[in-house]
Amino acid sequence: MTKKENMYKITLIPGDGIGPEVTSAARKVLQAAGIVIDWEIVDAGAGAAEKYGSTLPDETVESIRKNRIALKGPLTTPIGGGFKSVNVSLRKELDLYANVRPVRSALGISFQHNPVDLVIFRENTEDLYSGLEYEIAPGVTQSLKVITEKASTRIARSAFEWANKHNRKMVHAVHKANIMKKSDGLFLESVRRVAAEYPDIAYKEIIVDNCAMQMVMHPEQFDTVVLGNLYGDIISDLAAGLVGGLGVVPGANFGDDVAIFESVHGSAPDIAGKGIANPMATILSSNMMLRHLGENKAADRIQAALVLFLSEKKYLTPDLGGKAGTTEVVEGIIEKIKLLR
Ligand code: NAI
Repeated sequence: MTKKENMYKITLIPGDGIGPEVTSAARKVLQAAGIVIDWEIVDAGAGAAEKYGSTLPDETVESIRKNRIALKGPLTTPIGGGFKSVNVSLRKELDLYANVRPVRSALGISFQHNPVDLVIFRENTEDLYSGLEYEIAPGVTQSLKVITEKASTRIARSAFEWANKHNRKMVHAVHKANIMKKSDGLFLESVRRVAAEYPDIAYKEIIVDNCAMQMVMHPEQFDTVVLGNLYGDIISDLAAGLVGGLGVVPGANFGDDVAIFESVHGSAPDIAGKGIANPMATILSSNMMLRHLGENKAADRIQAALVLFLSEKKYLTPDLGGKAGTTEVVEGIIEKIKLLR
């Protein structure tokens, strides 16, 4: 990211499906909060393949490398055959090893009676997402789960560093090392070594299936949670379900030099173009981006506007049980931002 004359230069990937709708909503909200951004708009995904012959053009990767910060809409990945996940390629290409998802019931739309305030650190570069899949013989396939000490250690360090900085009290490592003794065993060993460097933060281990149940029944016991790629993918969606669903949970992918902010949800082809996508997850992701930029005052104002807007329960999109469209939601949030000036 570069900042010239109070203006940030940030890469924008509008994405597929509802991506353009929700990223455009986030841009309007940032503008209303007084943040001036010179967006460098680039393509990735199915649309880019038609235009550039590649789902991840070099220009896109270079733009993110140069600006070091991006806001991204979701990208469609074909199921079964077709091209490889562009999200996975992007994370590998830029070594965005930490996927961070704060899950909070602070917006007041939690479906849980217990308070939820946890942050998920999902390893982003390996595990069963390594793309190493083979058909060994007709009717027999194999997908390789790759776990390394290096990747496990750095995601653990990200989680503990974050917990330390934000005065958090506990880190849970999630695993299935009782069955995958080598791979998940190495993950656990690596996290334990990092945990030992942070004696003021309590450290617990939990098997992934029990974690899923505990998180539904007693989410308040979780604070900072560190997981491998696949468990992280599943558990973070489960956690999102506790606080209102995919439409309200933000996310970010961090490397050492680059950060990409994006909501947890996908391109939602079932509602794309209907004008009913919930833009809040992308607005909250762009709010994480503001905090990353040190624009905490603007981020606080947007957060307060969201809480105020939601407390009225006047305009909610269908995923939250309402009948409002994306535009009404954005206009409603902007109205509150102006009120909080
Ligand atoms: P999805 O998250 O797109 O949709 C799941 C359900 O949640 C759908 O019913 C959808 O309508 C709803 N939903 C999602 N976001 C919403 C929003 N903002 N407002 C209201 N409702 C919302 O997951 P799905 O269907 O599994 O994936 C669709 C495509 O998205 C796939 O190609 C998948 O690979 C891709 N995907 C991309 C991601 C990314 O780019 N980071 C993340 C997850 C999936």
